[in-house]
Amino acid sequence: MENLTFFNKAFTYTSVSFLFLPFLLSVLCQNGTELSPVESPLPLPSPPLGVTTKQLIFKDRRLAVVYPIIQAFKRTITADPLNKTGNWVGSDICSYTGFYCDNPPDNVSAITVAGIDFNGFLLSAPTLQGFIDNLPDLAIFHANSNKFSGSVPDFSKLRYFYELDISNNAFSGTFPTTVIGIKDLSFLDIRFNSFAGEVPPEIFNQPLEVLFINNNDFTAKLPENFGSTPVLYLTLANNRLTGPIPRSIRNLNSTLIEVLLLNNKLSGCLPYELGFLKELKVFDVESNLLTGPLPCSLSCLEKIELLNFANNLLYWEVPEELCALTNLVNLSLSDNFFTKVGPVCRKLIKNGVLDVRQNCIPGLPDQKSLQECAEFYLKYIRLCPYPSSYKIIPCKDNAAWHHHLEGSKAKTKTETKTKTKKAPITYKTLSRHKF
Ligand SMILES: *[C@@H]1O[C@H](CO)[C@@H](O)[C@H](O)[C@H]1NC(C)=O
Ligand SMILES: *[C@@H]1O[C@H](CO)[C@@H](O)[C@H](O)[C@H]1NC(C)=O
Ligand SMILES: *[C@@H]1O[C@H](CO)[C@@H](O)[C@H](O)[C@H]1NC(C)=O
Ligand SMILES: *[C@@H]1O[C@H](CO)[C@@H](O)[C@H](O)[C@H]1NC(C)=O
Ligand SMILES: *[C@@H]1O[C@H](CO)[C@@H](O)[C@H](O)[C@H]1NC(C)=O
Repeated sequence: MENLTFFNKAFTYTSVSFLFLPFLLSVLCQNGTELSPVESPLPLPSPPLGVTTKQLIFKDRRLAVVYPIIQAFKRTITADPLNKTGNWVGSDICSYTGFYCDNPPDNVSAITVAGIDFNGFLLSAPTLQGFIDNLPDLAIFHANSNKFSGSVPDFSKLRYFYELDISNNAFSGTFPTTVIGIKDLSFLDIRFNSFAGEVPPEIFNQPLEVLFINNNDFTAKLPENFGSTPVLYLTLANNRLTGPIPRSIRNLNSTLIEVLLLNNKLSGCLPYELGFLKELKVFDVESNLLTGPLPCSLSCLEKIELLNFANNLLYWEVPEELCALTNLVNLSLSDNFFTKVGPVCRKLIKNGVLDVRQNCIPGLPDQKSLQECAEFYLKYIRLCPYPSSYKIIPCKDNAAWHHHLEGSKAKTKTETKTKTKKAPITYKTLSRHKF
């Protein structure tokens, strides 16, 4: 239990409330008189007229330092319909709604504001500048579903900061470049705002584990260094991103678990390098402008559960090797221009795993008209780059890989017995609220 602190980077987004609990308890149980009280070293806001001035006593110097900053921010709040700031009074900052204290790594006897969780508070304020950027020990800031706007503050003075969630607010303008260069940033969630323009390539060089930027208005191409990101969970869905999926995606072979790219304007052929993503469980590129055949390398995605290529311009046959993948629960190829499925794939259609409605497959129900199919094949088909790569199955052609898969196959056999299929994490990001 004692290892659970704000300053131990962890996936707090999955269990925020549990993680906070130990501090809450320790703060509540702490008797303020045991610590030497510190008088505020900073001028405090003047009290309302007619009230006797009372010097506030703080449990720690660090709390005295942030007190005027919090009070100044409180005065800028223009709406608080849930009265969340009602108890932001007095010196016991650690009991203010939304504020969480902890002992900082540089002095374990000190107490400081380490985390802020305003999720769902519905607060309005014109800016967060001057607030979170002045809380030097802040590690986590979560503010899903508020109405904050303005520029995203500069975090360069925050030495322990690693988790930022400003999703579903009223931010606009370009990508908040102040987050670039936060040394330890591992979680960035800016989905459901009105950010626009390009996604700066530098963000893919950050040590992020989670990057959610869906439901903004980002345009421009996916950068070539896309493959430099160590993220596990990535959602870029519902923007207007263009260009092909960079071949550098291959470098995410041991990290990427889920990626949502649906509803963008991605174009070009699928790179066969997708087949190297050994950890991939969810890959969704529905409703883009992707074309070409499905690379046979996709049959190397041993862990894939959900694969969605629906509503693109993909064509030729569906590789039987792909349909043979054992962890697949949903393979959606509807609304493309495929012309052929073999017996293994037909079994999946029967099971409800494979959806090939609205394609060009003779003899199957609910297909496109012959005319639409003919027109597409006559007019739009262009050869993809590296055409011979479409036949390569790296996991079969490469002895080292084969060895690796043998090991993991044996494992999945025993695993499947006890496996309770966990719902994908990333799909929850497609709704506005806390995920
Ligand atoms: C806690 O502090 C109060 C004064 O604020 C004091 O009366 C009480 O004895 C203290 N309790 C303990 C267990 O130290
Ligand atoms: C807001 O909350 C504070 C303390 O929690 C309470 O004293 C106050 O009456 C509340 N105000 C309204 C308008 O409910
Ligand atoms: C650590 O924090 C405690 C409590 O605020 C303080 O009394 C002490 O002087 C600090 N130690 C150092 C080395 O700053
Ligand atoms: C990922 O790819 C790199 C470079 O191609 C390779 O060195 C590494 O062994 C691969 N990792 C896994 C888990 O396959
Ligand atoms: C498969 O995925 C598609 C696209 O996300 C979804 O519309 C469909 O309901 C899913 N089918 C099943 C059987 O889960």
